[in-house]
Amino acid sequence: MKNDYVSDIHKKDKLILHPYEDLKDRGSYDRKLIVKSDNIYLYDEDGKRYIDGPGGMWCNNIGHGNKEMAETIKNQVEKMDYCSPFSESNETSAELASVLSELSPGDLNTVFFTPDGSSANETALRFVMLYNNILGRPKKKHIISRDRAYHGSTYLTASITGKDREENNFDFEKNFIHHLGSPNPYRKKDDQTVEDFCDEKVKEFENKILEIGSDKVAAYIAEPVLASGGCIVPPKNYIKRFWDVCKKYDVLYISDEVVTAFGRLGHFFCSEDEFEIIPDIITTAKGITSGYIPLGAVLISDKLIAQISKDSSMLFHGFTYSGHPVSCAAALKNIEIMKRDKILEHVREIAPYFYQKLNKLYEIPIVGDVRGIGLMAGIECVIDKNSKNPLILDKAIASRIDEESLKLGLIIRPIYHICVLSPALIIQKNQIDELVDKLFQAISNATTQLEIEGLWSK
Ligand SMILES: Cc1ncc(COP(=O)(O)O)c(C=O)c1O
Repeated sequence: MKNDYVSDIHKKDKLILHPYEDLKDRGSYDRKLIVKSDNIYLYDEDGKRYIDGPGGMWCNNIGHGNKEMAETIKNQVEKMDYCSPFSESNETSAELASVLSELSPGDLNTVFFTPDGSSANETALRFVMLYNNILGRPKKKHIISRDRAYHGSTYLTASITGKDREENNFDFEKNFIHHLGSPNPYRKKDDQTVEDFCDEKVKEFENKILEIGSDKVAAYIAEPVLASGGCIVPPKNYIKRFWDVCKKYDVLYISDEVVTAFGRLGHFFCSEDEFEIIPDIITTAKGITSGYIPLGAVLISDKLIAQISKDSSMLFHGFTYSGHPVSCAAALKNIEIMKRDKILEHVREIAPYFYQKLNKLYEIPIVGDVRGIGLMAGIECVIDKNSKNPLILDKAIASRIDEESLKLGLIIRPIYHICVLSPALIIQKNQIDELVDKLFQAISNATTQLEIEGLWSK
């Protein structure tokens, strides 16, 4: 692209307060501009190609630049671009509600559409409060979440989020929100088996409910796999056992499938298909449209709805873009493409190859853990493999790896000392080879740099 044009865009870009931006650095550097996207790739203003390792933000499931999707969005805009969800409805949102109720487990047949994942989780939490108020249990309001969870950027969803760094200078609701330890088996005690570690987590949950009082605990919310917490896959049966505890104490189970639904784990929803639970509420977003257009959804159990639908009670909650016809048309097309092109089957088939290749990273001395499920993976970097101490020095190692990856044409998502990957689900074996080769090189380069700077040695 022409230099003058690019400088002009960079100048204008500095007017934006970007998400997760360090205020002191604001406007002091030019962000990379992404000007083109195709398949699993993004291209910058110089025409340089990058593998989009995080698939946008865990959302680009069918791949970039899908022409059918573009056509669908265009057609829907031309036919009917928007109508108020408060007073009217539209064909695409009704059709999508029906498809979602078919794809989701159990009796989760009531669909509330939201603009994104944060508003889906906020809606789920508000619904739980409404539910208990209508049932005459105004004290049953406490929510249990986990360290390292991420549930959104509204006041309430940020409060249930469990990432320390996100506490920086913001205020949080603490009175009725509680966090359990994260279920990362890599971080279990050395003398513990994974089964003992799992028992400990279940006990911690049960004790927390008893400590607060089960008459006060309204819901437990959890991502099946903690995504931006570092791609943490809990031990086998952990999810099912938490669900059992919820049922025992009449605590609602909210499964945050904002990342894990729509193929990331090889299923439309993974709560039942992978983890054998039927939550009371599922929230989703991101991959529902493969990120082409924003959309979120909350799926609520018929049982809950029936319990509170007896007396007149207005639902004073809704968004301008609830069930936006263009977003819903994109979601329908997305699901159609996934089914027709057997994308879920492809994920299940190719995932073992992904991990087989990623396991090569263990050859690098700072790589302590390579983990994941489906097409979401985390690579945790440590000072040494025995102590497992996180490699956080002058800055977290993942930022250094990120810088090295970019030079090699790979975008990763650096989180603390963990590199996270969630490429488009259409990724092929040769593209996995290319991705892992670049990542291997980037981690090796970052390690060499640390040695040269005297910050780390074998
Ligand atoms: C598990 C999970 N829940 C909720 C959210 C919030 O979604 P959004 O950014 O669309 O508001 C995210 C975003 O990354 C997420 O990963």
